Amino acid sequence: MSQVSNLDLIFLGPPGAGKGTQARKISAKYNIPQISTGDLMRASVLSGTPIGKKLKKYMSSGVLVPDELVLEILLDRLEESDCQYGFVLDGFPRTVPQAETLANALIKKKSPISAVISIEVPDEDITKRLTARRNCKCGASYHLEFLKPKVEGVCDYCGKKLFQRKDDTKEVIENRLCIYHKQTAPLIDFYQKQKNLYPVDGKKKIEMIFSEICDIINKLDSL
Ligand code: AP5
Repeated sequence: MSQVSNLDLIFLGPPGAGKGTQARKISAKYNIPQISTGDLMRASVLSGTPIGKKLKKYMSSGVLVPDELVLEILLDRLEESDCQYGFVLDGFPRTVPQAETLANALIKKKSPISAVISIEVPDEDITKRLTARRNCKCGASYHLEFLKPKVEGVCDYCGKKLFQRKDDTKEVIENRLCIYHKQTAPLIDFYQKQKNLYPVDGKKKIEMIFSEICDIINKLDSL
């Protein structure tokens, strides 16, 4: 396990780019929490609370959840004690107003974003990745071809049965991609202007991408 002081990372990229896959590995290596707004909100949907019912309506069709709802959930999570030395944000921010609110919250914390890792994968690869993704309730994720569990259909970590996410169907994936290009891709320009954008080629093998991201982080520490 490596330790880098105040490591506040954002993982940006289209649906299925590998944000979660890489964020989990970085979280384990640098001992900082992985915070996925998608996972947080899916947990809320499962709980069946009134807010969960509202979230389900947006998430099942692949449209973005309104900023005010996501921001409330995310800013609360950042207040938790495990975030004091850093975090990996996976799937947040997704709109310019979300990015601006986050920047203001971090100014108060006196801990600006260390780096925005932009994982680049062309649209034509995304459908293949997401229709063959399988998930576990414990947060682990697999791919039927590129990242197989040891036993078919069973999680390597907790032994539970794997499932397919409801938004990983061809039609919903197309909608998610369309929304990504309209509402989230402008963040590439936003962070490029702030000179903390680090693009990585998400078409490479999982371990190779991981090693490139670790190189970026290790160089940040020596700045
Ligand atoms: P969320 O859960 O964040 O989904 P997403 O951004 O669409 O991203 P994914 O989790 O689908 O993909 P990923 O990039 O993590 O890829 P993964 O590592 O799994 O959001 C879901 C919904 O919640 C949104 O549609 C929206 O409604 C709502 N939401 C969430 N955040 C929000 C926000 N901030 N604002 C508003 N609404 C929000 O990899 C994909 C597959 O590919 C896996 O099977 C994996 O094994 C495989 N894979 C990974 N890397 C590679 C590789 N290098 N080569 C081959 N295969 C690979």
